[in-house]
Amino acid sequence: MRNGKRSVVLIGFMGTGKSSVGRRLAQMTRSPRVDIDQMIATTFGMSITKIFARLGEEQFRKEERIVLEQLDAAEPSIIVTGGGVILRPENVTRLRELGTIVCLTANLPTLLERLGRGSHRPLLRGENRREVVERLLREREPAYREAADLIVDTSGLSHDQVAQSIQDSLALCD
Ligand code: S3P
Repeated sequence: MRNGKRSVVLIGFMGTGKSSVGRRLAQMTRSPRVDIDQMIATTFGMSITKIFARLGEEQFRKEERIVLEQLDAAEPSIIVTGGGVILRPENVTRLRELGTIVCLTANLPTLLERLGRGSHRPLLRGENRREVVERLLREREPAYREAADLIVDTSGLSHDQVAQSIQDSLALCD
């Protein structure tokens, strides 16, 4: 699959490596990197955890939508999204306008290991992390698959290997 110098949009569940792979891919392709969560945190002047705690998830989702609309489709970039971006079908439509959608996945043990115990992720703060991860994965899996132009299983791979595999699959060049 070729990408034709459009943006590359990374989607996928928490812990699949979107941020780190996005950073590597941006370096490898000498493209700007846009991180939606970072933009939202900057807008509100607080961390994602604080936004969830003080303003609520709905407010976060509204801002996520606004930020997506504001991105410039003419500027090919590496766009890193938060794991819940696919919850709104209109977000997926927008992401398709912006570029080629690459979904990162990982098997459950890998995800649980990467997500660790203490987390800055507000959705994983409760008691039974494994149960929450399993439930969210079940709920979201179809939407990730439906949205993706390309799916890359990152289990057992380094961020470099994942970025290289995306670059090869999309024949990205700078
Ligand atoms: C979320 C994932 C997080 C962040 C927020 C909500 C989700 O991003 O956007 O905590 O709903 O899965 P990461 O996927 O980068 O952890």
